[in-house]
Amino acid sequence: MSTRPEDATSAPVSLADLEARAAARRERPAYGHDALIACDRLVRVFSADGVEVQALQGLDLLVSEGELMALVGASGSGKSTLMNILAGLDVPTAGAATVAGRDLLTMDARARLTYRREVVGFVWQQTARNLLPYLTVLQNVTLPMQLRGGRRRAARTKTAEQLLAMLSLDHCRDRRPHQLSGGEQQRTAIAVALANTPSVLLADEPTGELDSHTAEQVFAAFRTANEELGTTIVIVTHDQAVADEVRRTVAIRDGRTSSEVLRRTERDAATGREALVAREYAMLDRAGRLQLPADYTSSLGMAHRVLLELESDHIGVWPDPTADGNADHGAGDGPKPGGRTPDDGPKPGDGTPGDGPKPGGGATT
Ligand SMILES: Nc1ncnc2c1ncn2[C@@H]1O[C@H](COP(=O)(O)OP(=O)(O)O)[C@@H](O)[C@H]1O
Ligand SMILES: [Mg+2]
Repeated sequence: MSTRPEDATSAPVSLADLEARAAARRERPAYGHDALIACDRLVRVFSADGVEVQALQGLDLLVSEGELMALVGASGSGKSTLMNILAGLDVPTAGAATVAGRDLLTMDARARLTYRREVVGFVWQQTARNLLPYLTVLQNVTLPMQLRGGRRRAARTKTAEQLLAMLSLDHCRDRRPHQLSGGEQQRTAIAVALANTPSVLLADEPTGELDSHTAEQVFAAFRTANEELGTTIVIVTHDQAVADEVRRTVAIRDGRTSSEVLRRTERDAATGREALVAREYAMLDRAGRLQLPADYTSSLGMAHRVLLELESDHIGVWPDPTADGNADHGAGDGPKPGGRTPDDGPKPGDGTPGDGPKPGGGATT
């Protein structure tokens, strides 16, 4: 007997079939099973004074172990809400979120405390929020180890000194935060966040209050932590220079991940020279939903409805010719979904097989 769903009305499905299907579904690896951070349709609704704000509206995000990545997005798009959830400080309204095997929705208070002390470290934008003003740099860095317990003072001091050396902060060892520059304060904050060797380091606009040169030094400290300790790092940033420095930048729009820029080094076949190539991708969620960039849709007058057409190597998206304002885009020379030969469509990147479409060109820097 066939197990295809469309046959279900014509032929009864046996119990054995149903069991086999359920087993296959169970054995299929869960979404993001191999990712260190997995957010699955994450929702966070705030209600204040009877008004509901949907800060996260079904956000999907996967981050691999050892990654150093950036999150960008307009103010109010939900970046800090996401960071607070990942930091274990806030709980999502719905969806699923796991970090290093911890389920962020079901952790009890005790597990949450351990999580914040041992699994994640965080660096905030406000330099004052990261450090205790009456402790020296060394004391600030040893404090998380002391709170965690289980190690001797000499061992804690040694670890702290190693972290300070790694981040070129030896000269700050005995100073208090007010005796440090803004950049030194943020680098010390990174050392504090790394004190208990967390799996993940989260930073919410860590360079927001710094000038560009200092911001560069702080970013270099994140890179060092990523390279030397293998720490997975997620940085929320407004700073294009920081976003340009990482391999992957994910953009958040209206509480959802909307696009992603991947950068990789490519060798030019002709000159043999290496160049960094950046390519922007739209996110496709598991239900097949896609967010089209607002400037693309508005330039073609697309709203409410679009026509789709499957081609051998891409999918075409056309404005609805019956919609107001689209009448002259269309009928004559426009695409006619369903009525075209495979050769007359637009072919990004010339359409040569294996060449692949190149949305946005792929800017070389
Ligand atoms: N505690 C809160 N109570 C009510 N609304 C909130 C709260 N935190 C954030 N919001 C709202 O959620 C949305 C996303 O905020 P946020 O995550 O801070 O954005 P971003 O960090 O990207 O600027 C905003 O509309 C903000 O006003
Ligand atoms: Mg924010």
